[in-house]
Amino acid sequence: MNEHVSIPVAAPDAGEIKNSRKVFIKTYGCQMNVYDSTRMGDALASEGYVTTEEMGEADLILLNTCHIREKAADKVYSALGRLRDMKKARAAEGRELMIGVAGCVAQAEGEEIIRRAPAVDVVIGPQTYHRLPEALRRARGGKPVVDTDYAVEDKFEHLPATEKATIRSRGVTAFLTVQEGCDKFCTFCVVPYTRGSEVSRPVAQIVAEAQRLAESGVREITLLGQNVNAWRAEGPNGRDWSLGDLLYRLAEIPGLARLRYTTSHPRDMDDRLIDAHRDLRTLMPYLHLPVQSGSDRILKAMNRRHTGQEYLRLVERIRTARADIAMSGDFIVGFPGETDGDFEDTLRIVEEVNYAQAFSFKYSTRPGTPGADLADHVSEEVKAERLERLQALLLKQQARFATSCVGSVMDLLLEKPGRMPGQVIGRSPWLQSVNVDAKTSQIGDIIPVRIIGTGPNSLFAEPAERLMGA
Ligand code: 5AD
Ligand code: SF4
Repeated sequence: MNEHVSIPVAAPDAGEIKNSRKVFIKTYGCQMNVYDSTRMGDALASEGYVTTEEMGEADLILLNTCHIREKAADKVYSALGRLRDMKKARAAEGRELMIGVAGCVAQAEGEEIIRRAPAVDVVIGPQTYHRLPEALRRARGGKPVVDTDYAVEDKFEHLPATEKATIRSRGVTAFLTVQEGCDKFCTFCVVPYTRGSEVSRPVAQIVAEAQRLAESGVREITLLGQNVNAWRAEGPNGRDWSLGDLLYRLAEIPGLARLRYTTSHPRDMDDRLIDAHRDLRTLMPYLHLPVQSGSDRILKAMNRRHTGQEYLRLVERIRTARADIAMSGDFIVGFPGETDGDFEDTLRIVEEVNYAQAFSFKYSTRPGTPGADLADHVSEEVKAERLERLQALLLKQQARFATSCVGSVMDLLLEKPGRMPGQVIGRSPWLQSVNVDAKTSQIGDIIPVRIIGTGPNSLFAEPAERLMGA
């Protein structure tokens, strides 16, 4: 899981439906929230809502929130302050504006949100958002509604399937949540408390959703879970399936060209999953496998349940199975008790693994997690210094990886129009953004390109055919 996404959900066919209510969904946090936002859009669509990318024209503003670090939650409260003013201004014009809070802050804070931000009409948790239309109807009666139960029913069974036209409007890549919750209890992390214990979606449900996505033109699916490689379910003939088995099954779906999954815990990388990386060309050679720290002492205090050496051995096994795999990771600096020596161990493991991509954070105390009660909290100043050194190293590795691609030919999934006319932005097998001269009518195609240069956050390429003809 990384949390750098803050995008509104694309508006499907917004112009076509007149006089319907409009919802603006603001997504904070990880890809799982991005997926949930699309599914909340589906639930509201069946109530006549269309999604809009213009906050100003919305009748309902929904914040799908993240609680992973303190700053993420603070952002929600300041956004709610601005929305309160907007609601007042609307009321003066005699127009309705409803405000909803969903996601992990909703789950963690519940009623507290209404106390701190009384303009909020609905607070709805990640396990109950299929009940969003009902909650809105009840809230229209005048009293705010808080629904953050762990629903006994499976929300996925109650959500309407996404309209094919809506899927198409969202693009040729899609997320599909297969697993929710986490039982690992890393001592810094709120996820086991906000998202609850691990639940896996059944095979048939996942295959049906993947098939529908593929039939609607999606070429690449990223399977999501807070701890996705802990996914387990009953396969055909009552066999116990793990994520590797699921990937072999999904690789058979016609039209589906690429599979990815995120985020994984090192302890749950089983042989079947590593075999899938060896056998399936559909499974992209990119793996987000957070280690958090390189110090065994800190890993123990974090309750990661593996050592630095065990992680390195695992990476070696994965690379033996798939030599061109690019590694990505998450790191936390300044966990309580982290010494200069521990931090050096983190730099050392980064050197050894050589990451193509990484996310790094200063430790943020989360009340209610065991980490919050530990002694020897690290000063903000030291955290900032360490983060800067770590990020410099990770950026160097990232740049080296990008440069190493120059001159090579790779398959590019054409995704969306580029900034310049005649250009299209595609995605490489290693999740890089690549600009290439192509027609927008080719979006959805996978074409061979030769990488000719690197930019700050992307690569430049030309169609490989052109080079061959030159
Ligand atoms: N402080 C800082 N970073 C955190 N993460 C999770 N909890 C915290 C915290 N309390 C980071 C981890 C995780 C990523 C999603 O966010 O690196 O892998
Ligand atoms: Fe949080 Fe650890 Fe679970 Fe990841 S594995 S969600 S960091 S508790």
